[in-house]
Amino acid sequence: MSSPILEAHLRPGAPDLLDLPWSVPLEHWREHCPRVLELERGVSRHEVQFVGYGSRAWAIKRTSVHAAEKEYNVLSAALERRLPCVEPGGWLVVRDTNGERAGMMVTPFLAESIPYRSLFRGRGLERYRERLLDAMAGLIVRLHLAGFYWGDCSLSNTLFRRDAGELAAYLVDAETSEIHDTLSDGMREQDLLVLEENVAGEMADLVASGEPPHPLDPWNTGRMIRERYQQLWHEVTREERIAPGEEWRVQERIRALHALGFSVGEVELLADAAGSRLRLRTIVTDGDYHRHQLHNLTGLSVEEHQARQMLSEVRELRAEKARTRDRSVTLAEAAFHWQRERFAPASTALAALPGGQSAVAERYCQVLEHKWFLSEREHRDVGFAAALADYLDVMRKGEDVPASKTSSESKPS
Ligand SMILES: Nc1ncnc2c1ncn2[C@@H]1O[C@H](COP(=O)(O)OP(=O)(O)OP(=O)(O)O)[C@@H](O)[C@H]1O
Ligand SMILES: [Mg+2]
Repeated sequence: MSSPILEAHLRPGAPDLLDLPWSVPLEHWREHCPRVLELERGVSRHEVQFVGYGSRAWAIKRTSVHAAEKEYNVLSAALERRLPCVEPGGWLVVRDTNGERAGMMVTPFLAESIPYRSLFRGRGLERYRERLLDAMAGLIVRLHLAGFYWGDCSLSNTLFRRDAGELAAYLVDAETSEIHDTLSDGMREQDLLVLEENVAGEMADLVASGEPPHPLDPWNTGRMIRERYQQLWHEVTREERIAPGEEWRVQERIRALHALGFSVGEVELLADAAGSRLRLRTIVTDGDYHRHQLHNLTGLSVEEHQARQMLSEVRELRAEKARTRDRSVTLAEAAFHWQRERFAPASTALAALPGGQSAVAERYCQVLEHKWFLSEREHRDVGFAAALADYLDVMRKGEDVPASKTSSESKPS
């Protein structure tokens, strides 16, 4: 019998997928293929299966040949622009059971990801629900800054990851997306209209299924995401006028953008018509400022808020070392000590907990939070080692770690 795979376009690192039961419809793979994995998934029109190769899982979605190729190209362009999207793994043309050509889109499974429905169902996830508003707004701003038109913005086309008490949002479905040099206001507006409409439907579904999305107001969730989007978009793209003698405001603006997590690629200063003031425009390249900084210092790849918390620990350690050694200590030196003395030993212990290696960064941030909680309770700094030991103890007993604060802004840094 001829092979049901007619074409395969796979990125390096993707498995060849040849041993999958392509002659069987995707929905029946479970009975035919030991590679099929039961992993959390969101709602979808197309059939999606997850398969495991070694330690990695892959999502396979059946669609049309044209749609698979298009989605693969858009996700490849998004990857080049380092946008928060699932990565392209490849696309295939297969002959389906009726002899027709079907397209298969392949993406690596986004580890530790949570579909929105699970966010509203899962025990222990309540504190993250409100974070969905900022996560969605931040995702759409980042896409739009890069000229990415989503076309089908919705909660079910997004996956969420825990990020140090916040949520990081990733686009999962780019079937209707397009990449442009820049987006017109009309296209941005179109994405927001679709978002509001889709979110209204998704929230109504939650209510109808007896799972009201407390503490979110289901009837206003879409509007709230839009408002946060607009605030953030304005903050990131606004121009400032700078009078003579106010040049320090350039650095202030860059720092403000970094604090929001945005990396600044270029600062444009143009004299205004009268020549008496400067117009300051900043060009933002991505929303991963702290991630990049931590990665450059330590080689660790974590989420943006996790990186921010880890960097603030590195800075604390730097001050402590400078004090005890009575000399200045560089950030790179402090990062080296932090990683060797603190992060590496803690991560070995944390990787033994459920979730394994891929949950280590988030667990590490939970230990930091636990340290603040214990210190607050005991009115003294309990120290990292004691907090880690207590955290491991609580987790092994299967209890919930008590959370002192739900928002990272309220934590001491
Ligand atoms: N790489 C991935 N990692 C984790 N989950 C994934 C991945 N790809 C797909 N999924 C899961 O499968 C679901 C469906 O995927 P997707 O939205 O691409 O399918 P769809 O059928 O095109 O959706 P729609 O109904 O919006 O057309 C997602 O919501 C997500 O839960
Ligand atoms: Mg979808």
